[in-house]
Amino acid sequence: MTAREIQKIGVIGSGAMGSQIAMVAALAGYRVALQDVVPESLEKAKTTLQGHMDNRVKKGRLTKEQVDAAFSNLSFEQDLEAALADADFVIEAVVEKLDVKRDVFAALDRVAPAHAILATNSSTIVSSKVADATQRPDKVCNMHFFNPALVMQLVEVVRNESTSQDTVDTAVELARKMGKVPITLQKEISGFVANRILAALMDEAVNLYEQGIASFEDIDVAVTKGLNHPIGPFALMDLTGIDVNYLVRMQRYQESGDEKDKPKASVAKKYEQGELGRKTGKGWYSYE
Ligand SMILES: NC(=O)c1ccc[n+]([C@@H]2O[C@H](COP(=O)([O-])OP(=O)(O)OC[C@H]3O[C@@H](n4cnc5c(N)ncnc54)[C@H](O)[C@@H]3O)[C@@H](O)[C@H]2O)c1
Repeated sequence: MTAREIQKIGVIGSGAMGSQIAMVAALAGYRVALQDVVPESLEKAKTTLQGHMDNRVKKGRLTKEQVDAAFSNLSFEQDLEAALADADFVIEAVVEKLDVKRDVFAALDRVAPAHAILATNSSTIVSSKVADATQRPDKVCNMHFFNPALVMQLVEVVRNESTSQDTVDTAVELARKMGKVPITLQKEISGFVANRILAALMDEAVNLYEQGIASFEDIDVAVTKGLNHPIGPFALMDLTGIDVNYLVRMQRYQESGDEKDKPKASVAKKYEQGELGRKTGKGWYSYE
């Protein structure tokens, strides 16, 4: 199958990522069913997406006709069978819990047409951990979008040992047709490329801070003014959530058993104090 032959895409999980991935696919002209088990999540997705699209029309980035056409391509479904009856490609974006994802993949395998490719948008879980919950491991891969998916261009396509070349090629081509810039990983590794590099940068930033070499504010200035990053590592941690950083590191530590992978002491302290960043009004910085 090629991306040109894809008519219908199913997106599972209508949270922060799934809702925007579905909108990007609908804007690219695909028929899309966005499915979630929680009706309130589907309602919230609809309202939030409408807001994003209204803004783009106001700013002249999209026409009202383009937005109307995209919404007419997009359905919101609670029922998995209705969502996937004629799907050619499925992108899973449910909560980051392996047991939930394995159950979802077993259900996708039962419900989606036999030719359909099943991709996971997980930020850390490699697809071999869900592929064996299906009867079609050759059609399973990672397709990792970045947050916010309406804006961020990168998509990491990651094969596992069973993934066919056709599956990789189709996922890459689909990402391009969705207006994204795909890269492919030849081997799977937890966290993939971009987030591993980001984690290394964050680690060194926190190391320097914990050694008392510089304040976290000055480290952010070094990274923004010296390396031209749009945002410093501490400000970024506040934006994405210190809990996210902590939990991702805990998961990596549980997988590797390597002390180096443990959350850093100052990050763990913020997590324990509930200072999680912008969402709690205080993290590294304070937000009024
Ligand atoms: N948030 C990010 O920055 C980011 C970036 C890249 C990738 N991801 C990955 O995307 C996935 C989703 O993350 P998110 O931030 O959108 O989470 P989220 O919590 O905003 O949304 C998850 C959604 O999944 C739904 N859900 C749970 N179980 C389900 C099931 N069995 N069937 C259907 N829907 C179900 C929930 O109701 C919720 O609406 C995760 O795997 C995460 O690692 C997240």
